[in-house]
Amino acid sequence: MTSVRVERLYKIFGPQPTEQVRRLDEGTDSADLPEGTTAAVVDASFSVREGETFVVMGLSGSGKSTLIRMLNGLLTPTSGKVFVDDADITAMSGRELRTMRQQKMSMVFQHFALFPHRTVLDNAGYGLQIRGAPADEINDRAREALGMVGLEGWEQRYPQQLSGGMRQRVGLARALAAQTDVLLMDEAFSALDPLIKREMQDQLLELNAQLGKTIIFITHDLNEAMRLGDRIAVMRAGRIVQIGDSEQILSEPADDYVAEFVQDVDRSRVLTAGSIADPSAAAPDGVAPVAATAPLRDLFDRIGRDGPLPVVDAQRRVIGVVTPQAVFAALSHRVEYEEA
Ligand SMILES: Nc1ncnc2c1ncn2[C@@H]1O[C@H](COP(=O)(O)OP(=O)(O)OP(=O)(O)O)[C@@H](O)[C@H]1O
Ligand SMILES: [Mg+2]
Repeated sequence: MTSVRVERLYKIFGPQPTEQVRRLDEGTDSADLPEGTTAAVVDASFSVREGETFVVMGLSGSGKSTLIRMLNGLLTPTSGKVFVDDADITAMSGRELRTMRQQKMSMVFQHFALFPHRTVLDNAGYGLQIRGAPADEINDRAREALGMVGLEGWEQRYPQQLSGGMRQRVGLARALAAQTDVLLMDEAFSALDPLIKREMQDQLLELNAQLGKTIIFITHDLNEAMRLGDRIAVMRAGRIVQIGDSEQILSEPADDYVAEFVQDVDRSRVLTAGSIADPSAAAPDGVAPVAATAPLRDLFDRIGRDGPLPVVDAQRRVIGVVTPQAVFAALSHRVEYEEA
């Protein structure tokens, strides 16, 4: 399996980019750089673990696409390093980069990027075709991938005969057929209707429970980020301002920008019994426990009826107690962020 690590990554658009990196390093504010300069990614460092779904979230223009394009070498960083399996891709030649991409990373785009005059099957097999795989193998793997995304029977159709959701499934099948460890998904579901989007999210979660890929997923939709991400990196004006899991982002936002983002999140879906359990309280006798991973919304009925509930971990050991008061406090919690 493949991991991806980024060290002090910068991408500056405009004249004398390295000079601007130096100025940013010395503490100059991005807003004070010369006219015509955009600091699209500033001092980004993180590592994505093997098999992890790592979401990058932020408003439009915050640098998400620029960041993801540096991860597979489509864009060259102004400074900093990108390691894919411990190989520094910023030191690779164009040819080495192409090979690395073909073997390790596939990308799924927002607008599908399908070829209108190719069949669904040929679109799904495209990644294999450009790397010169034998025709039989391309066919088998493209068919298999189309099956995984629920498009069996559609192989001989053309993209314009498909709905938006189905087209994006073809895009996903193309990435899966390439059998790379890493999937890069840039707003892959953003153009879809809410219901279809949710279906695609479910399908990705389900597929990845089997495939265990390393996924780097970009979105500006926080609910999507929280559904899909093992961890979420929040970007603001080129900088990563916070990295954490959903609960950390929700309960300890790093600044006012993150706090504003999380205001509209349905906390009852994200916060779990485990996160608000009181470990020092005595567990009530004779009350059936709830799992630490249960979202608060699943506790409402029981807690209304039974009162405090014991919370158990995966080994069914009691780790604490949730009380109606704690649930109420967690859900009504307004994040107050004060500038330090
Ligand atoms: N090739 C380029 N030349 C100059 N500026 C660029 C270039 N590409 C991106 N930018 C600028 O860099 C900043 C970050 O852009 P980027 O596309 O990475 O943002 P994003 O977070 O992906 O936004 P969106 O959600 O709209 O896709 C923006 O200000 C953008 O205008
Ligand atoms: Mg973008």
